[in-house]
Amino acid sequence: MLKALSLFQPIRSTSLKIPESTVTLSGMDTLTAIRERRSIKHYDAGHRMPDAEVRKLLELTMQAPTAFNIQHWRFVVVQNPEIRKQIRTVAWDQAQVTDASLLVVLCANKDAWKEDPARYWKNAPKEVQDILLPAIGQYYKDRPEVQQDECMRSCGLAGATLMLAAKAMGYDSCPMDGFDFEQVGKIIQLPENHVISFMVAIGKGTEKAWPKPGQLSYGEVVKTDRF
Ligand SMILES: Cc1cc2nc3c(=O)[nH]c(=O)nc-3n(C[C@H](O)[C@H](O)[C@H](O)COP(=O)(O)O)c2cc1C
Repeated sequence: MLKALSLFQPIRSTSLKIPESTVTLSGMDTLTAIRERRSIKHYDAGHRMPDAEVRKLLELTMQAPTAFNIQHWRFVVVQNPEIRKQIRTVAWDQAQVTDASLLVVLCANKDAWKEDPARYWKNAPKEVQDILLPAIGQYYKDRPEVQQDECMRSCGLAGATLMLAAKAMGYDSCPMDGFDFEQVGKIIQLPENHVISFMVAIGKGTEKAWPKPGQLSYGEVVKTDRF
């Protein structure tokens, strides 16, 4: 493990070519989006998000970081109203499941680390690939807990990116884990080696969130150096 981690050092100093994004950027600034994002539960059920915006939102979400760049998230955008209804029945009958413009189920592939990992580094210099590719296998092989935890870490980061991007584009959102994971897995035909992390509803909110109900103090949350 230590050997694998020490391999990061030379990679940091290597300049990689950054591919151009297909996303056209405009919208609210980041700090405002962070401050104004709230979990919104009621949506304009008649609103349809244009396909180009759906694409832009998901492309932005795909900019979220993943360890070793394995990009193991898989985002199931549930468009079919019948499937939305089925999910709502196993999601505590929460209205946002059917009424939001988009419902995204954030899933991840536990085996992505071994599924042709060369593609995750194909544009990197060869010396970088030679170090990174074996390190990926060393890090995840025979470590199911790490594989599972990594799925949750990556989906958490992607979900936050998705919600902030949505806010910046003028949409509200609600993260959700109030549902039966097994049933939702069956409904979306989740492959056996994938896991669901949570769902995010996105759309035009019709009711404001109540004021923050109980924000903890800075001192309780933020520690200096150690607990
Ligand atoms: C992982 C996760 C799961 C959540 N599940 C639900 C849910 O099922 N239904 C819901 O109405 N809100 C859900 N929430 C929203 C939280 O209640 C909300 O984020 C929290 O009260 C803070 O409010 P804010 O997001 O407006 O700042 C969830 C939030 C997170 C992060």
